[in-house]
Amino acid sequence: MEVVVCRDYQEMSKSAAAMVAQLLRRKPHAVLGLATGSTPLGLYKELIRLHKQEGLDFSQVTSFNLDEYVGLDPQHDQSYHYFMHENFFRHININLRQVHVPSGTAKDYGAFCQWYEQRIKECGGIDLQVLGIGSNGHIAFNEPLSSLQSRTRIKTLARQTIEDNARFFARREDVPIFAVTMGVGTIMEARRIVLLANGGAKAKAVAAAVEGPVSAMITASALQMHPDCTFYADDDAAAGLTMRDYYQWIQAHPPAAPTIQ
Ligand code: PGA
Repeated sequence: MEVVVCRDYQEMSKSAAAMVAQLLRRKPHAVLGLATGSTPLGLYKELIRLHKQEGLDFSQVTSFNLDEYVGLDPQHDQSYHYFMHENFFRHININLRQVHVPSGTAKDYGAFCQWYEQRIKECGGIDLQVLGIGSNGHIAFNEPLSSLQSRTRIKTLARQTIEDNARFFARREDVPIFAVTMGVGTIMEARRIVLLANGGAKAKAVAAAVEGPVSAMITASALQMHPDCTFYADDDAAAGLTMRDYYQWIQAHPPAAPTIQ
């Protein structure tokens, strides 16, 4: 895992966007794994800017979102379908037929989840997965004790997650208590992962995920086992990291073999 401590949210968003842009320039038909929540908004804003001002092309991109609330239809203003269209898809030239967001209104969730997993495989697997982290250390809606090998399925949201997300709903009772989410195992199959964390409310979760033991109690800690994961944290989110100086030292001195004269 590479830990990158950023000065602020803007720098973090720009660095992550540069990573996505670099991938799309090398592989225009890349498969992106996308996340919702307040964290990736800056990343989407920067990607929209790159599309509008520098011609970054999404026309051949396929995308898969991590999760969706059960019971919210795609037009609901708190559904993740709506979020993605409003904050990203409608501003870029992605082909909407190549966009996938889990269904929150499936008739048969078991069949839907199997189809979603299958569809990711058919599209060649996810090249780059964007993640946020919950204050309880979750990735997507893989709440504490989710199997680290889990696949796409329905999860019951933890109380902490419901509290955290209540700010987006008129009333706390309106927050759905179930979600369809990619599993930790699904996420771990992405070729490359970039996790974004900002703000002091994430400091404990970030420290546990990066420096704690690998544990199903903090599902983000599974990323320690991923071969190509970059973990961005802004100054406040990085506050609990005991090895912070070392991560910054590595940034200044990336590993390199000595050149033979
Ligand atoms: P947030 O959510 O970006 O709104 O903080 C992150 C998450 O729960 O994964």
